[in-house]
Amino acid sequence: MKKDITAIKAQVLEALETAQTLEDVEKIRVTFLGKKSAFNELLKALKNLSAEEKKNIGPLANQTKKELHDALLQKQEEIEEAFDAQTEWIDVTAPGTKVKKGSLNPLTLVQRDIEDIFVSMGFDIADGPEIESEYYNFDAVNVPADHPARDMQDTFWIKTDSEDHKQVLRTHTSSVQVRYMQEHTPPFRIIIPGRVFRQEATDASHDHTFHQFEALVVGDDVSVANFLYIAEVFFSAFFQKEIKVRVRPSYFPFVEPGFEFDISCTNCNGDGCSTCQQTGWLEVGGAGMVHQNVLEAGGYRRNQYTGFAWGFGLERLAMMKYKIDDIRLFHSGDIRFGRQFHVQK
Ligand code: FA5
Repeated sequence: MKKDITAIKAQVLEALETAQTLEDVEKIRVTFLGKKSAFNELLKALKNLSAEEKKNIGPLANQTKKELHDALLQKQEEIEEAFDAQTEWIDVTAPGTKVKKGSLNPLTLVQRDIEDIFVSMGFDIADGPEIESEYYNFDAVNVPADHPARDMQDTFWIKTDSEDHKQVLRTHTSSVQVRYMQEHTPPFRIIIPGRVFRQEATDASHDHTFHQFEALVVGDDVSVANFLYIAEVFFSAFFQKEIKVRVRPSYFPFVEPGFEFDISCTNCNGDGCSTCQQTGWLEVGGAGMVHQNVLEAGGYRRNQYTGFAWGFGLERLAMMKYKIDDIRLFHSGDIRFGRQFHVQK
């Protein structure tokens, strides 16, 4: 039996040497190892052998079967590879895989729009640190320690060793006002877009990390009328329709007088609709005439200059423009949100 096994093995290997096609290989498999093959008969006959013979022949038969299957498989692969090499070709005219372009966050779009409009009105763009000293964030803008106004902005304090140099994640972009004044002489007009932080519970209109956009104009005779005019020109350009601005008395420590300002509803143009709760107006932010204490902290003589400042949330403006109903979407990283602002060129 041993001889038969060795003979079949030799026959299969010899036949494989001359096989040219997959059909040839299959034929060899059926002939020598198939159901009706001599090899299969031989395997069947194993059960009739004595225990001693089985011990001898069994492993040899199984080993040979495995080796022959491997040899068949290897030949099959060789033939396939040779076939691929002959038939493979590249169609250089086939369209490529399209590379998907990313999209800008709507906040970036809004910030760029705002900057373009203000630069066209002769404003400069100023910047300041996000990790800010307690002084520039609060004291310099007329919010001394222990003043109740500090409670208006929930603050992230940075742990420091010294009580004298406390640092905060800035709570508003007004922190850049005095920094800028110390380096510049009026007249000047600037905007300060930037990221700010507040230790607040989040909801659809409040986040712990958001962006503000401050405007600051200082000169000899700057008045509320200048503020109203610039605000109306800006909002009309931004929303690309005529926008009216109105002010209501309010309190911010860094301005006197201070006010909240509203713009005519961008949805109904002031007639009253669900967006503006039938009032015809949308609340936008805070503003006022720069407090003389702030101008003094900036290094100017008291009553030497006048100025106006305003500050409001960039997210709020983006939400109005793009009709976004939840502020948390901006930082969600949700690709379905981002894709809606995709500019395909
Ligand atoms: C201020 O931060 C003042 N510095 C604004 C200012 C500047 C007033 C100059 C006068 C002169 P307030 O805390 O109200 O003010 O915030 C201004 C705007 O930031 C709000 O109108 C709102 O649009 C936005 N804002 C405030 N808190 C949040 C928040 N948690 N999430 C998102 N936006 C917010």
